[in-house]
Amino acid sequence: MSQQKWWQTAIFYQIYPRSFADGNGDGIGDFKGMTEKLDYLKGLGVDGLWLSPHFPSPNWDCGYDISDYENVAPEYGTLEDFKAFLHAAHARGMRLILDLVLNHTSDEHAWFLESKSSRDNPKADWYVWKDPLPASPISNPRNGGGVPKGRRGPPNNWQSCFDGPAWTYVPERGQYYYHYFMKQQPDLNWRNPEVKAAMWRAARFWLDMGVDGFRLDALGTIYEDPDLTPHTVPMTLAELRHFSDVATTPEEKKLAEKYWFDMYKNQWGGPGLHDLMQELRHVLDEYPGDRMLVGEDDNIDYMGNGDDELHMVFNFPLMRTERLTPDWVRANQTERLRRLDALPARGWGCNTLGNHDCSRVLTRYGDRVHDDQLARLHLALLMTMRGTPFLYNGEEIGMTDLVIPDPVKLRDTMATWYYDSLINKLKVEPALAAQRAGAMSRDKDRTPLQWRDAPNGGFCPEGVTPWLPVNPDYAAGVNVEAQENDPDSLLNFYRRMLKVRKDTSALVEGEYQAVHEKAEDYLAFRRSLPEQQVLVVLNFSGKKLVLDFTDLRSKPARTIYPSGNPAELSLAKINLEPFGILISELL
Ligand code: GLC
Repeated sequence: MSQQKWWQTAIFYQIYPRSFADGNGDGIGDFKGMTEKLDYLKGLGVDGLWLSPHFPSPNWDCGYDISDYENVAPEYGTLEDFKAFLHAAHARGMRLILDLVLNHTSDEHAWFLESKSSRDNPKADWYVWKDPLPASPISNPRNGGGVPKGRRGPPNNWQSCFDGPAWTYVPERGQYYYHYFMKQQPDLNWRNPEVKAAMWRAARFWLDMGVDGFRLDALGTIYEDPDLTPHTVPMTLAELRHFSDVATTPEEKKLAEKYWFDMYKNQWGGPGLHDLMQELRHVLDEYPGDRMLVGEDDNIDYMGNGDDELHMVFNFPLMRTERLTPDWVRANQTERLRRLDALPARGWGCNTLGNHDCSRVLTRYGDRVHDDQLARLHLALLMTMRGTPFLYNGEEIGMTDLVIPDPVKLRDTMATWYYDSLINKLKVEPALAAQRAGAMSRDKDRTPLQWRDAPNGGFCPEGVTPWLPVNPDYAAGVNVEAQENDPDSLLNFYRRMLKVRKDTSALVEGEYQAVHEKAEDYLAFRRSLPEQQVLVVLNFSGKKLVLDFTDLRSKPARTIYPSGNPAELSLAKINLEPFGILISELL
């Protein structure tokens, strides 16, 4: 195990700062709260922390619109509070990576304010500025004809993925700027070397302080098609969202998927990213301590040769299913590991089942009957797979989505924009529009962490309004305090399972080999090192199973989990309860 880097052996936990722990009782999470909860995290067994953006931000996109890369959002504390948090994490043997948003800044960032002020200021070329399209757009297919005849229109018909057209006009310059996300999130012009220098300086600011690396936000969107090739989808963004929402037949769903791809395919993955990632990697490699980069992308190509660009990219394809099944996981592993292994320096995997952008894992993969068992099974999967695991705060106590029915209470502006479009443009009746917007909003998976069975789930004091509503199921046992005291709780299961991974070298660094590959009810695989062979069997069905693994070996095995089982186990007859988990060492 000693050969491995810290980020290969670590178990990561994503902290969503606004919702994690409120130390000063104002209804918003902060560094004081996070620092106070480090012992809780240590006790959980995680040793890598990923912090979603903690920088000053007008919060159009909950912190992913940064107005100063070298400071801390005042509602979270001060730079001194940040340093105290970092040092306290390090003192407990935990590493900390930050969220680095490269594609765009906030429109309130000083860089953008200067850039938009004129065409000849020193930062005039720091963002993606284009002239209006000179020809009449009605006859010009490039911008979809959305502009009245005779007037000039946007450079093309690209859509932002959050709120309508991807171009916003600035009268001071008589030009449009490009934004893949909201109009409050202008895209930086990464072809300008000054932009790189400024962003690498910001990265160094945190690296100098001792942070252990970065999760790189939305990196696929950094470079778009330089020819600005228009998309060909016969819909606006709101119409496409609506179309997807009402799609029921497989054909309609497939078409919606195709439209989503076609609408944005020219807006990401443009040339230049490999060089850029190599440059950033050089910056990190100047520092001692194996600083790490993990990309919010599933494209293994961005790992370069396996050791010269990103250290890891997320295995998001694993999550792109309505139900995790043995077949699904096996196919995913075969494909991902084949590609990682093919990299000249061999790539390292990275698995996750949830984050702040998607429905919570228990809601997504639960069946409302066996949710608790499934949550345990899915964690056991994550803890036994090859690759560094990432958990999302709250999943350890079984937090579920809280759909906010009142559009006025939505904080995710992507959802409020959709709500307004449904009502005003698509004339959908308000109750239905509210339901749709609530369901697509990412607020549902970002609600405050539930610490106790107390008003506001113990997140903030009674009488204080938390920034997002707290899920009332804190009163039904979905809270940390109740679960700490219950040995059979999900929280204590998480602790046990994280420890199993930590204590079992083969689970961290062993090779993966699927066994019984045709099994539909269960997933079985071996994780092997020369000195240790582990067999993992996960029952994905609601049936009791009796399985024979003597085809692997005739000698008995030693049970690692469940620990209460007899120490020696016969491979001829393995009994698995419905959704049962077996982790055993082959002797
Ligand atoms: C990433 C973040 C998401 C954010 C977007 C724009 O996908 O995870 O929350 O809205 O980038 O920065």
